Amino acid sequence: MSVTQEEFRKALGCFATGVTVITVDHEGEVHGMTANAFASVSLDPMLVLVCVDHRARTHAHLHAKKRFGVNVLTENQRAISEYYALASQTHQDAEREAGAQFDRTTHGTPVLHGALAYLECRLRTAEDAGDHTIFIAEVEDVVVRDGDPLLFFRGKYRAIGAEAYDSSTTTASRASSEFDRSSRSKH
Ligand SMILES: Cc1cc2nc3c(=O)[nH]c(=O)nc-3n(C[C@H](O)[C@H](O)[C@H](O)COP(=O)(O)O)c2cc1C
Repeated sequence: MSVTQEEFRKALGCFATGVTVITVDHEGEVHGMTANAFASVSLDPMLVLVCVDHRARTHAHLHAKKRFGVNVLTENQRAISEYYALASQTHQDAEREAGAQFDRTTHGTPVLHGALAYLECRLRTAEDAGDHTIFIAEVEDVVVRDGDPLLFFRGKYRAIGAEAYDSSTTTASRASSEFDRSSRSKH
């Protein structure tokens, strides 16, 4: 069976993901790229991966700098995701156009304000895979905050919904865990 690119995209769109902005210093400027082809790879050592299109400017910047940040977006950072998904952006108007502000780590990597999590990454290997490169990096530092994630599913941004239940879950156990949740939120 031959699969068309449209069918391939459609199938992968069923895999709901979070949304990240990959940040890298480029000659003193913050360069960002929206990415959801991000995954954990190994716990010991702590490794993550991000797949980057050969045509993205970020591709050359990651090779050059060998250090980058992964900023996991919150549900109220959609404008930031849209901004860093545009190829034409120079990223000079990030704050005015998308409300994106940055700090720098001791290594000079840009850290997005208000992200749900931040991972400071040092490039280990870069493996070409078709029209993308798989960048595997060691995680050197993390920051985690409270909040809800921005999600991407079937080509659309989403917010997280209610907790999922297995169809075999009984009404009684569902009611009891709803009770647990509502009593937790009152404290
Ligand atoms: C939700 C979403 C996820 C994306 N994920 C990736 C990704 O994982 N890898 C990638 O190369 N491009 C991804 N893109 C596309 C890039 O963000 C886009 O091509 C961007 O313009 C590249 O920027 P650059 O040329 O400044 O590096 C994604 C876009 C969106 C909207």
